Amino acid sequence: MVPAYYDNRRTRRLLKGHTVTSVIPLITESFVLVHLTGMAILVGAFILHMRSKDNFPFRIMVWGASIQLVTGTILVGLAYMGDDAPDNLKITVKFLLATGALIAAILGAKRQSTGEKKLQPFFHTAGGFAVISLVIAVLWNAELYV
Ligand code: HEM
Repeated sequence: MVPAYYDNRRTRRLLKGHTVTSVIPLITESFVLVHLTGMAILVGAFILHMRSKDNFPFRIMVWGASIQLVTGTILVGLAYMGDDAPDNLKITVKFLLATGALIAAILGAKRQSTGEKKLQPFFHTAGGFAVISLVIAVLWNAELYV
């Protein structure tokens, strides 16, 4: 069903015959693309350096976690604009984990720039939270458990 606010004459004229219902999913999927890229940056940086003892990639992890928070929040907004509201508990857990990953990566980056040692806990917290978020994103799905 087309939500009422998609179906207005001005928007339809702007889109010259294409309905907004085909545009909103396109916008959503574009943000999913960026969201998955952010996930790859964050989780990829963690996996690549998992065995490192120094030179942790905190800066790139800050970027990855920030992309996740921004695109994830936009995806939630887009989901509410459409017909399927997201699972609020799942989103809250993912939001907290991504925020935790961002804070750990920022703290790690700051300490790294002042030459401090003992950075591994920050790296593992950021990476661990990211991996848990990924598992939750994929496996916390009501359709899988009916
Ligand atoms: C490190 C953090 C995160 C990771 C690794 C992650 C990973 C993912 C992955 C892999 C998907 C696709 C899952 C699928 O379609 O089966 C996804 C979708 C989604 N994520 Fe995240 N995410 C993170 C953070 C967030 C945050 C903070 C939010 C919200 C504030 C969020 C909101 C969403 C939403 C709404 C979707 C559904 C998109 C759709 O298919 O329509 N994510 N996430």
